Amino acid sequence: QPPLRDLADQQGFRMGAAVASHLLDDADYRRTAAAEFNSVTHENDLKWESVQPQPGQYSWSGADRLVEFAEQNGQQIHGHTLVWHSQLPSWVENGSFTPAELTQVMEDHIDTTMGRYRGQIQTWDVVNEPIGDDAQFRNSVFHRVLGEDFIAQSLHMARAADPDATLFINDYNIDGINAKSDAYYELAQDLLAQGAPLDGIGLQGHLISGQLPQDIQQNIQRFADLGLEVMITELDIRMTMPVTQQKLEQQARDYTQVMDACLAVSGCSGVTVWGVTDAHSWVPDHFTGEGAALPIDENYQPKPAYWSVHEALGGD
Ligand code: G3I
Repeated sequence: QPPLRDLADQQGFRMGAAVASHLLDDADYRRTAAAEFNSVTHENDLKWESVQPQPGQYSWSGADRLVEFAEQNGQQIHGHTLVWHSQLPSWVENGSFTPAELTQVMEDHIDTTMGRYRGQIQTWDVVNEPIGDDAQFRNSVFHRVLGEDFIAQSLHMARAADPDATLFINDYNIDGINAKSDAYYELAQDLLAQGAPLDGIGLQGHLISGQLPQDIQQNIQRFADLGLEVMITELDIRMTMPVTQQKLEQQARDYTQVMDACLAVSGCSGVTVWGVTDAHSWVPDHFTGEGAALPIDENYQPKPAYWSVHEALGGD
């Protein structure tokens, strides 16, 4: 059977995985990340705390390592992420800035980070998770100091740093139609109306097996109808442990549903799963008693969900 990336290439589709640079030391991990995916996202190594832990002190080793890996393997890269309230070093999170100072700090970070990988990273989550589950703007240093205009400002900075990059905003719990995704729909319209360079929206897709929203395709379609590129950027579909055959089959149906929803909309260009295998997923660390959220299991064996993705991409 052809690997997922070959099927995706035939469809002009981006089939990605989040990769942790330090795990590339493991031969099985490296082989699977290279063999199955035509796109990668840094799971943590491009975040602000990794890249610029102290003011003006940049550290690229983890980020560079995955960029080199992707180039060796002919993979695209989705840049994650520039402006986010989390995994932000304390000098930014707890800094006291005037608007002009914070603007300068953001501009340095965006310009230096995107500039380093100009021509190598094609798409970026410029702003990540600016809206909370209450559908209001989150209380972050960016919002406190600059107000909601920090989003438009970040996009302008990103466009200037790499005019060829495709610029996204990205969040979770906006996969179906709900109050939070409605807030994004309004935000996207506002940004476009004011001429902010927004190109795409990332629906993260951290989902629970058996509890998927039924209107994912409709939601993707409404953003695509605004002229935006849509990607599922961080897909995983978790289950309560232990794994049973019945749960794996439910999860396989869930993966089919998400893949089909994206593939049915011409503006939906890719799906990235949030981890290479169940062995290294963030899920068990963050949700007690849950796991097995990815298409490949902890022993690098394909699960029923893998074959769902395979079939959705046109495999037999
Ligand atoms: O690097 C330290 C290590 O030195 C320390 O010993 C260890 C002990 O806890 O922690 C390590 O840091 C962890 C880091 O991942 C790197 O592995 C943090 O504790 C852990 O909280 C952090 O989790 C990451 C999480 O973002 C942080 O918010 C996950 O790996 C990562 O998968 C997750 O990814 C996010 C996306 O960026 C945005 N969308 C949601 C998604 C899932 O939360």
